Amino acid sequence: MQFPVTRLRRLRSTEAMRSLVRETHLRPSALIYPLFICPGEGVRKPIGSMPGVFNLSIDEAMKEAEECVALGIGGLLLFGLPAEKDELGTGAYAEDGIVQRALRAFKANRALDGLVQIADVCLCEYTSHGHCGVLTVDGDHAHVENDASLPLLARTAASLARAGADVIAPSDMMDGRVAAMRDAMDAAGCEGTPIMSYAAKFASAFYGPFREAADSAPQVGDRRGYQMDGANIREAMREIEQDVAEGADMLLMKPAGPYLDVIRAARERFDLPLGAYQVSGEYSMLHAAFERGWLDRDRAMLESLLSIRRAGAEFIVTYFAKDAARLLG
Ligand code: PBG
Repeated sequence: MQFPVTRLRRLRSTEAMRSLVRETHLRPSALIYPLFICPGEGVRKPIGSMPGVFNLSIDEAMKEAEECVALGIGGLLLFGLPAEKDELGTGAYAEDGIVQRALRAFKANRALDGLVQIADVCLCEYTSHGHCGVLTVDGDHAHVENDASLPLLARTAASLARAGADVIAPSDMMDGRVAAMRDAMDAAGCEGTPIMSYAAKFASAFYGPFREAADSAPQVGDRRGYQMDGANIREAMREIEQDVAEGADMLLMKPAGPYLDVIRAARERFDLPLGAYQVSGEYSMLHAAFERGWLDRDRAMLESLLSIRRAGAEFIVTYFAKDAARLLG
């Protein structure tokens, strides 16, 4: 039926009407808040390029986590800044590593039981060269070794699972890492801990601000030898297929906003729970516009998150989690 019988505006007349027919919803429980944990006590160091985001010592991170519980946020994604870095990123799998210690402290606090505590697994925050795996340098050519990185990543996953992580989230993009982590976690008695694979992670300029927050910028070269080419959607499907075959329990797509078509394609093709990471650059870009008064803060923030949900992500990792949860209340 055509106009004038059909008038689509009829269902837009009031907020009550719009709310009734709304197709996509944002809930605080489907938001995950990233935390950057650093050594020390009482530390709350602002990240210049990410307004409202901090490097937090464990005691400060604890306060932040409690605030997340009060806001009804679904989970935390934990990153660590070790006191020292080395070639092999030993801080990532140290028994008393920074995230391991944070997890033990968080797990001892029953007030945080309502939060899914997810540990990111990667070596880049822990290596002196800033790459996500073992590096060999040949003249001015740096190569990240795939197979030599797997045991270190697997050890990290098992160590974080033993420290109490509810979910292990590999973000390194080495081939075969999900299977290696599953084996190591099972051998460590953590067969019940799920793996959320950053299955399709693109080599993106939008990770820029994160590298300041996590102090993880590569010293030489870039990550294009292991993270995906932003031009490739079919390859993204192959990455996901591979991770599913290796035992991934959930999938995470990254970045989110510039890759909504990839999220949609993944949602249509795979039945695993699917999330997306609204990365640092997406956050900082909006903040830069807020600071200039160019965009309405609350509306632009919620719209950016709603688009990611509409594209097909059930849950969203976002630095806006607390602000959005406050609005969604
Ligand atoms: C670690 C990792 C990165 C991000 C999450 N895990 C950085 C990178 O790959 O360089 C980016 C998150 C963000 O930009 O918010 N490999």
